[in-house]
Amino acid sequence: MINFKHPIPFVEKLAPVVQLCWEMGWNEINGGNISWRLPSEEAGDMFPIRGKAIVEKVLLPQPQPTLNGCYFLVTGSGQYFRHAIERANDVFGIVRIVDEGTSYQKIWGYENGGCPTSEFATHLTGHAIRKRVSKDREKIILHCHPPEFIILSFLMPLDSAELSLALWRTMPECIVFFPDGIRVVLPLLPGTTKIADASVIGLEKSRIISWSHHGIFASESNPDTVFALVETIEKASSMQRKILSAGGAKQSISLELLRELVDATGHIRVCEPFFLTEAEAKEKISGVVRS
Ligand code: 13P
Ligand code: ZN
Repeated sequence: MINFKHPIPFVEKLAPVVQLCWEMGWNEINGGNISWRLPSEEAGDMFPIRGKAIVEKVLLPQPQPTLNGCYFLVTGSGQYFRHAIERANDVFGIVRIVDEGTSYQKIWGYENGGCPTSEFATHLTGHAIRKRVSKDREKIILHCHPPEFIILSFLMPLDSAELSLALWRTMPECIVFFPDGIRVVLPLLPGTTKIADASVIGLEKSRIISWSHHGIFASESNPDTVFALVETIEKASSMQRKILSAGGAKQSISLELLRELVDATGHIRVCEPFFLTEAEAKEKISGVVRS
């Protein structure tokens, strides 16, 4: 990865990953956005609240009381991932959530007068839910437009169980890395509270959302792990898309083998694979009916 230096260590760590997302072909033009909940103490020390200095407050469309006082490093609306290294101070900004989670203040960045991504409200909703569900493990949300993953929303039913199982059955790593599966949200206008509301139900159960015909929204612990998660999903999607384009699979990883994988990897999985139990029950019933 690119050796990039920046006075803010969080920007130094995130910018090369953002640049790599563009190189992967996931973030054309201003497509996609990323937000990282920074360690409050470190960020607070770095950007102390200056006495009586008045910093403009911007009202949030949806209050997030559990995020009050949190600092976020977040890409600006309309900014290109391609410029992450070259124009880091324009592409990124740091904001602090204030007033019981009803507003934010710009602390640093957006040098050309920008503001956080148009999806910021959805990111904050995602952070609030995933912070609670993951017991504070997850801290970063990446939204991007990985092509193979998006193509599946044109080729497959818009169904969470079907998509999750198809990817699990394509590559053994999948059920280990994302046993929580992928929750499918039907096509909705980006940047609206509607898409945030529709994502809420899925985010309670999974850290990965498919915004049909649009992209992925994924939550993880740090820049490296969120990149690795999307990379794994995009690779499995590419394989699945090629399989479908070749007329469909003649065979795939069996439910029995998936169960063996699950049993052997309890110590590294984030949760139990919900859709697997359902699929096993269905297979059992259809087996009984057939015999
Ligand atoms: P922003 O430029 O506002 O981040 O929007 C990009 C995007 O991908 C919307 O879904
Ligand atoms: Zn998008």
